[in-house]
Amino acid sequence: MTTITESALGLDVVPLAGYIGAKITGVDLRDDLDDATVAEIRAALNKYKVVFFRDQQIGHAEQVAFARRFGRVTPAHPHEENPPEGFPEILPIDSRRYETNLGRKRTSYDHSWHTDVTALVNPPAASILRADILPPYGGDTAWTNLVAAYENLPQELRDLADRIDIRHQFQARAAEGSQRDRKIREANLVAYHPAVRVHPETGERALFVSPGFTRGAREIRGFSPDQSERILKLLWSEATRTEYTVRFRWKPGSVAFWDNRATAHLAIADAAHLGHDRVLYRVTLEGDVPRGVDGRESELVSGEPFHGA
Ligand code: SIN
Repeated sequence: MTTITESALGLDVVPLAGYIGAKITGVDLRDDLDDATVAEIRAALNKYKVVFFRDQQIGHAEQVAFARRFGRVTPAHPHEENPPEGFPEILPIDSRRYETNLGRKRTSYDHSWHTDVTALVNPPAASILRADILPPYGGDTAWTNLVAAYENLPQELRDLADRIDIRHQFQARAAEGSQRDRKIREANLVAYHPAVRVHPETGERALFVSPGFTRGAREIRGFSPDQSERILKLLWSEATRTEYTVRFRWKPGSVAFWDNRATAHLAIADAAHLGHDRVLYRVTLEGDVPRGVDGRESELVSGEPFHGA
């Protein structure tokens, strides 16, 4: 049975999967949204972790304006050098760039499960991604609910996860010697985060293990590399169990808005060989420094906190 929550404002929130994801209709993101609408979208985001809008006729300016209603908007990315002119907040996710920047054909910058930029001591609170050019099929994105992943762990594993800190670091995804490669090396981002973070708005606990950023170091404080690797593999697989996920088929004008404190996502690598372009635009909201269940904060090892305006 489909549950539809219709708000007093006429927004419909339709869940899309058992643990995560809802489609919101009845809102035009070009509009100057009032506080009540913003509050409803925020409530849906807190509940469903990722929300989707279809057929939105917005460009960079409207996307940034929409994002600003929910927090401070960061620059595009700590390593981004060529945002669209006049829009330093916009990160193009553009298959046409990757052959030059990354040295190989691909449809997104990363095809592993990750939470955005967790190598920062204050990873973004949320991301908003808008689709523009898409292959006729393929190139979907999936999200997983890290709160469900934590809550469904056996108590003994939750107790262990509550106590450990994991090293997150930026993996060099750049053609060697390229401008991007230099920039990644200069601004090396490394942080330790609690494996379980407490969400500052909902108080929920999330299994904060971002495989794409923890795979390089494979380091849990206090454990040997071999022990770290085996524990991480267990936590990664729990965080990305199929039942906690939702998969989204993009169309031009689709927008996904996800809580980066409670989800990880995966750009599915099934379209590069089709030879079609895939272009989306992302903005991120400034995040807080994560706190573990005992209140301990993440620790910066290298790089700077990432602030927005
Ligand atoms: C992202 O990781 O922010 C982009 C996901 C995608 O390309 O589908």
